[in-house]
Amino acid sequence: MRMVDLIVKKQQGKELTKEEINFIISGFTNGTIPDYQMSAFAMAVYFQDMTDNERMEMTMAMAESGDQIDLSAIEGIKVDKHSTGGVGDTTTLVLAPLVASAGVPVAKMSGRGLGHTGGTIDKLESVPGFHVEISEEKFMELVNKNKVAVVGQSGDLTPADKKIYALRDVTGTVNSLPLIASSIMSKKIASGADAIVLDVKVGAGAFMKTPEDAEKLARAMVSIGNLAGRKTMAIISDMSQPLGRAVGNTLEVEEAIETLKGNGPKDLEELCLVLGAQMVYLGGGAESLEDAKALLKEKLTNGEALEQFKIFLEAQDGNPNVVEDYSLMPQASITKDVKATESGYITEITADDIGVAAMKLGAGRETQESVIDLAAGLMLHKKVDDYVEKGDVIVTLYANFEDTAEAEKMIQQAYHYGKEKVEPVLIHKVIT
Ligand code: URA
Ligand code: CA
Repeated sequence: MRMVDLIVKKQQGKELTKEEINFIISGFTNGTIPDYQMSAFAMAVYFQDMTDNERMEMTMAMAESGDQIDLSAIEGIKVDKHSTGGVGDTTTLVLAPLVASAGVPVAKMSGRGLGHTGGTIDKLESVPGFHVEISEEKFMELVNKNKVAVVGQSGDLTPADKKIYALRDVTGTVNSLPLIASSIMSKKIASGADAIVLDVKVGAGAFMKTPEDAEKLARAMVSIGNLAGRKTMAIISDMSQPLGRAVGNTLEVEEAIETLKGNGPKDLEELCLVLGAQMVYLGGGAESLEDAKALLKEKLTNGEALEQFKIFLEAQDGNPNVVEDYSLMPQASITKDVKATESGYITEITADDIGVAAMKLGAGRETQESVIDLAAGLMLHKKVDDYVEKGDVIVTLYANFEDTAEAEKMIQQAYHYGKEKVEPVLIHKVIT
């Protein structure tokens, strides 16, 4: 096989075989196919697209390009959830204990990475004592015993994706549906998921700007998952404002606990119920999505989801008393109110700007070396649909330094006002 022939074949819009795709991915990963040929291939895919089968083969080839996590020692169907980039997305913290309380195992592997706020692991480290440095055996043992555990990501997962993404980044081929879909799905499959639930965000701050584009991406990923033998479902959810009210590590843990107590923001609770229902249904914990949702509502009301959270924290040496006493977590020395600069209905809160504001306050990592301030972040008091008078408090920010001008400027930039009331749509579509 010659790479140049495969580039031309794709350029002409023909379907590549499994063998041909494996040749491309393994050759590029091991260095026998140079960057310039892979770049040309990515551009050919960009213009000619891929069939469902090609997308699946590409995904599997990337998933198999490095280490693969074997979760078979855990009893039951392991369902993983993936969200395509939300800001202040507290869902994982709620979903892990909630879904576990319904009897479906949650074996969560998380990274730290860069971002506006920390990853799930950083957030959980707001709980004194909690740690994720546990062995693989211990991790599996905890999931079998408690139905939920979180471990830091180790090993070299999907090196092909890392290498291809770096190339796409500099060749104008990031924004290609088959390449995005296979990139995301390869990582989920390499992490050992038997079934996958996807939360595809749509809105100004998200990767996909329109519900139509988001639906195309979601359907592409659902198709890949199902063809690869991993039952997959998706929802399209709104990112025209951050989810919930809290953005920041300690603040999001508090918000997750409130949600587990049944007192959380309604949008966060609803999204967790819908995503959680798909996870429980795919994990075999209920006969239908409706049954699964009803079961999860019951777990929120009867306190079992909250109890599961305490068990989970304690099993990884975290202090479970945080559930009753938030002051046990890191607290900011400074809080400041940010006020509305005009009167009107709030029409949009640009999630990206809020994310950058949180990062400026210290809640996220700008570079790999940055140290996160777990206490830093912000609380949104006003959201889309609310009416405010000029001078009303819209946001409270939390920091451990005085000069928060930069963050305040980003917050003002995030809030958009109008004369008309805007009804926010939380879930645009459910794809099963
Ligand atoms: N996220 C990914 O993981 N991969 C892409 O290609 C785009 C977004
Ligand atoms: Ca939130």
